[in-house]
Amino acid sequence: MTKKKLLGPKARALVARDQVVVSPSYPRAYNFVMDHGKGSEVFDVDGNRYLDFAAGIAVASTGHSHPQVVKAIQEQAEKFIHISSDFYHENWVELSEKLDDIAPFKEDAGIFLTNSGTEAVEAAIKLARFHTGGSQFIGFLGAFHGRTMGSLAFTASKSLYRQDFFPMMNGVIHVPYPDDYRPLLATRPGEDYGQAIVRYIEEQIIGRIAPADNIAGILIEPIQGEGGYIVPTPGFFPALRDLCDRHDILLIVDEVQSGMGRTGKWWAIEHFGVEPDIICAAKGIASGVPLGAMIARQSVMDWPKGAHGNTYGGNPLACAAALATIDLIENGFMQNAVEMGQYTMDALEEIQMRHPSIGQVRGKGLMIGVDFVKDRETHEPDGDLRAQVEQLGFEHGLLLLGCGKSTIRFSPPLNISKTELDEGLQIFDELVGQAEQG
Ligand SMILES: Cc1ncc(COP(=O)(O)O)c(C=O)c1O
Repeated sequence: MTKKKLLGPKARALVARDQVVVSPSYPRAYNFVMDHGKGSEVFDVDGNRYLDFAAGIAVASTGHSHPQVVKAIQEQAEKFIHISSDFYHENWVELSEKLDDIAPFKEDAGIFLTNSGTEAVEAAIKLARFHTGGSQFIGFLGAFHGRTMGSLAFTASKSLYRQDFFPMMNGVIHVPYPDDYRPLLATRPGEDYGQAIVRYIEEQIIGRIAPADNIAGILIEPIQGEGGYIVPTPGFFPALRDLCDRHDILLIVDEVQSGMGRTGKWWAIEHFGVEPDIICAAKGIASGVPLGAMIARQSVMDWPKGAHGNTYGGNPLACAAALATIDLIENGFMQNAVEMGQYTMDALEEIQMRHPSIGQVRGKGLMIGVDFVKDRETHEPDGDLRAQVEQLGFEHGLLLLGCGKSTIRFSPPLNISKTELDEGLQIFDELVGQAEQG
């Protein structure tokens, strides 16, 4: 068994100081206090080494402090750190051109840069209302789109996120996510579960609650992240795109977690063979420097000067980091996500055979979820076991994060090596066994 790591004196002291001054609202997973990191390895302030299978919630896409990203930030910092969105600079334009190149639609793209994922979602909500004149939206149960008042109206993964913050922004109707492992709706004979969801939207929501003319957009994560790393059924997105086309509704995909090469393609929506109208990106886009993007078809981005803006949009450090990140992803890391993703899926499926508590292994590329169940027949979630595995991981040198009710997410840096994966997977295998024995 791997050696247990104890919370050291320096970490203990820092956590105590943090508790005095930092907002208590942050949902800390466990007491990991970072000192430094390199690639997929991180070290705490007491000198303990950990393998990072969480990458700062799928953000450190190129690993921690990749030299090419560090160099780009350093060089930019020496030139200028800020100029504001009232003016222009080259990296901003170049990054926007690059995002246009990789946008998952044939039409040219317009790009609005933000400072976070939630701000990219806010921008998409505003653009959708502006462009269509509609006010209503469809969102999905289990979704996470952020915590500001617009995105929070869509977030529906835990009621805690909304508790005591009502009223929400008006105009979001939630429907079930196409999760056929735990379906909420009945299907007709031969019908894909995702198609049943789209039929429900058409018949029950558009038919009874919100006429299509009033619906600005449908906002969805192509693979649900915080909600449990859930992959939609194959029939879902083609049916949803068709519905949007028939009713002139914008298809807005939130790729904040699933985008930027994490699933082995630039965007997770590309696995499903449809083109969205608007994409929200953030997290892995700049290897950890705060940056987001709202990327829309140019025909949709028709708002005039002054309709939307922000002080830090196109921040020079973030743009430099993003250009270096994209270069790395393009030149090897996305391919590594394909290969190491498949390798991890295969290994986890083998681990699943030894552990009755693992109900499902699912995902694409290096966005993989392991779902723990009390019973493989009923799929009843086992949140307690998941929590134990997460905590045991920390104690044995493996940073893991949960998602959904009972899932552990595997979202390591996209350049993780096979050796590092083997080491972490072996620890995981042992810890699941330990947790199963109570
Ligand atoms: C799919 C998705 N959208 C939006 C967000 C919000 O991003 P941020 O925390 O940068 O505001 C997140 C964050 O976890 C996310 O996973």
